[in-house]
Amino acid sequence: MLNFDFYNPTHILFGKGRIADIHQAIPADAKVLLLYGGGSIKQNGVFDQVIAALGNRSVTEFSGIEPNPSYETLMKAVDIIKHGNIDFLLAVGGGSVIDGTKFIAAAALFEGGDPWAIMEKHGRNVTKALPFGSILTLPATGSEMNDGGVVTRQSIKAKLAFSSRHCFPKFSVLDPTTTYTLPPRQIGNGAVDAFVHVMEQYLTYPVNSPVQDRFAEGLLKTLIEEGPKALANPQDYDVRANLMWCATMALNGLISTGVPQDWATHMIGHELTALHGIDHAQTLAIVLPSMLRVRKEAKRAKLLQFAERIWDLREGSEDSRIDTAISRMQDYFEQMGVKTRLSDYHLGADDISPVIAALETHRMLTIGEKRDVTLDVSRQVLELSL
Ligand code: NZQ
Ligand code: ZN
Repeated sequence: MLNFDFYNPTHILFGKGRIADIHQAIPADAKVLLLYGGGSIKQNGVFDQVIAALGNRSVTEFSGIEPNPSYETLMKAVDIIKHGNIDFLLAVGGGSVIDGTKFIAAAALFEGGDPWAIMEKHGRNVTKALPFGSILTLPATGSEMNDGGVVTRQSIKAKLAFSSRHCFPKFSVLDPTTTYTLPPRQIGNGAVDAFVHVMEQYLTYPVNSPVQDRFAEGLLKTLIEEGPKALANPQDYDVRANLMWCATMALNGLISTGVPQDWATHMIGHELTALHGIDHAQTLAIVLPSMLRVRKEAKRAKLLQFAERIWDLREGSEDSRIDTAISRMQDYFEQMGVKTRLSDYHLGADDISPVIAALETHRMLTIGEKRDVTLDVSRQVLELSL
């Protein structure tokens, strides 16, 4: 096992009716900026619960944080904070609203010029941030219990990730009933994103870490079992609760302790979203199956473990077990309604070079757990996904 630091200060309030408890988690005299997206929280009653729980606190609203939150929109909130009397941020929504709020929290106190520099330095230049909490309505990203965020600058089509230990939420409310109104597309996206998060941390090479491996395998098995149930029975509380906790645990730092991490699929996926607006999870479903096929030799030992423990494949040659395991995973993505080929999104061979050029611009020249995913390898992966 590798050396590691594990630090996670986020207070989780889990379960039905827990939005009311933010009353205790936010200072009584806080001046709150309430941030949300395109309005789903107004249709499903979450907004009313939040306003009731905030009681007499001063509340300013900022709406319109879009999926794949943009620097351009987020800077408008930074402006409101600089001119207003705000000392606490409350994000209500999915990963985009929470990620956007993290950026706003850091940008509002940033002293190094244009806050876009936070993204260019991937957060290494963040020294402080406003305190914030979150109320999650879409289990997927893990943003509710980690210190990372992804922000797009639309004017230059750049989607970059940052992280900083100053950007953990103070608390996050996970009430599974808030997810009942998710459309099937977002249920599928959420399960696939969480699945791929686990794979980025698990499917590398062995370092004798049975605890982390078995946690990761437990999460994968749960996503495979519960995901289709959420599509079939959207109002099943236990299914929603299990998916919600699973997605949080998939990217809160626990399963990455002491193990190598990949993230090449995510880096290529971010370019596909920036260039073509494809949903985050859709990009991962396109890239990961081909990524595993192209890098089969480097990942052989873990692929065999994945085949045996996740898909119960114990017979036949090593290669056939690996190939079947990858195909089963791809079938699972499709079963969750997330298509897995570039052509499903109307992209073809001509669209590959611009993705490679964007990776080059963003210095993604040698990615993956062994830094051996060069631009040539990324190209092979995309060619296999046509
Ligand atoms: O904007 P509203 O009206 O709220 O609608 C949203 C949005 O259209 C809707 N939605 C959310 N909760 C709902 C709901 N609709 C009905 N009922 C509900 N309860 O869902 C749509 C998508 O929301 P979004 O927040 O964009 O989705 P997601 O949570 O998948 O977040 C994706 C973003 O997170 C980033 C992605 O790159 C992408 O920008 N990621 C963040 C990570 C992190 N912070 O650690 C890691 C991930 O790998 C990922 O990169
Ligand atoms: Zn992701």
